Amino acid sequence: MKFLLNSHNATFNLGKKIAKYLTESTVIALQGDLGSGKTTFVQGLAAGLKISQNVLSPTFLFLKTYSIPKHKILKTLCHVDYYRADKNMSTLTNYIQEYINDKNTLTVIEWPEQLKTYLPKGTIWIQFLHGTFKNKRVVSIVNKKICAKLSI
Ligand SMILES: Nc1ncnc2c1ncn2[C@@H]1O[C@H](COP(=O)(O)OP(=O)(O)O)[C@@H](O)[C@H]1O
Ligand SMILES: [Mg+2]
Repeated sequence: MKFLLNSHNATFNLGKKIAKYLTESTVIALQGDLGSGKTTFVQGLAAGLKISQNVLSPTFLFLKTYSIPKHKILKTLCHVDYYRADKNMSTLTNYIQEYINDKNTLTVIEWPEQLKTYLPKGTIWIQFLHGTFKNKRVVSIVNKKICAKLSI
């Protein structure tokens, strides 16, 4: 399923909308170049999960966690940015795996390629592209469950 998103807010709102469909611990893998809208999407997800803290890019920290209020199952949002990391950083990958395996955590990963082998089968892959128009983005989602809900 492909979306043409015309503005920052459109990217944010897609994240916010998808947040409503997340009923269990999941991994969301966000692929796409620098500046393609991945962090904006996570900010929307956080808003949809009623997180009031500002979500900033965790590039230099690798990972940041936020507590999710008032959700039946999801208690923690773990936002990973693997841009400056590599899979030989085993302490970091072990740490990320703990969040991935936690039943009450939603783990969202920017630059997930190097972590592919650690990601569960049900990972929701979302691809962000700059597209041919300036100030627009194309987003593709390949998850059946989410796409079914988005098309209603
Ligand atoms: N659909 C969109 N159209 C135009 N600009 C967008 C869109 N989505 C996000 N942006 C803007 O693109 C810039 C980079 O977004 P960001 O989410 O930080 O990208 P990434 O995390 O992929 O590097 C920000 O200024 C953001 O407001
Ligand atoms: Mg980012």
